[in-house]
Amino acid sequence: MRLEKFIATSGIASRRAVKKSILAGLVTVNGEPVLVPGHPIDVETDTVEFDGKRVEPLTERIYLMLNKPAGYLTTRSDERGRPTVMNLVADLPASIYPVGRLDLETEGLLLFTNDGDFAYRLLHPSHEIEKTYLAWVKGVPNDDAIQRLRQGVTILSGTTAPAKVKRLKVSKDGASTQFEVVIHEGKKRQVRLMFKAVGHSVMRLKRVGIGNLQLGNLPQGQYRLLTPREITALMGL
Ligand code: URA
Repeated sequence: MRLEKFIATSGIASRRAVKKSILAGLVTVNGEPVLVPGHPIDVETDTVEFDGKRVEPLTERIYLMLNKPAGYLTTRSDERGRPTVMNLVADLPASIYPVGRLDLETEGLLLFTNDGDFAYRLLHPSHEIEKTYLAWVKGVPNDDAIQRLRQGVTILSGTTAPAKVKRLKVSKDGASTQFEVVIHEGKKRQVRLMFKAVGHSVMRLKRVGIGNLQLGNLPQGQYRLLTPREITALMGL
């Protein structure tokens, strides 16, 4: 394949911009600068770098998980220049995007891919994929409140489906309680609004699982590629 076509179809920049960059010496093939846009490359074996970054062929499917910190928007770009989750995966091909969304202040497991079918299937409500959250809430919800959360409560966008709600621990001073909550819907701000509906605000929220996939001990702000086994498991959901 011609060098400029390979880079342009990987989604990095337009064909015209790529050509200019090649002429400007910003592109290397196997470590050597190549100044000829039509230079033939072997997609399987050649390593192409564009401005110091490895160019991945578009045919390569990428699946990864990020441990999102609070304070990052789940969006591909923000016109107000606020930090986005894309800043945390900036060294990966620009063609990847987040699968679904976590609120600005929510932390934890966020998937990224460039595989549109995968993202579509994972997000489709008919699949009812379980998402597991840890929630730290104000005060100590009583058994009645917990029962209501389990059965479904009314929030702005309707009534929530039955959820698994487990009380994990109450802080020593009784000021807060930690819960594990498993839901299979994706209503906006669902976990926060569920607790609000029973009179307790969520102080911290972290997603730790999607289906069988676990966030594990991935450090905050870091990402890792999914293993083939993890990808297959998610595809089978
Ligand atoms: N529920 C919320 O309230 N926020 C999220 O980001 C995800 C689920």
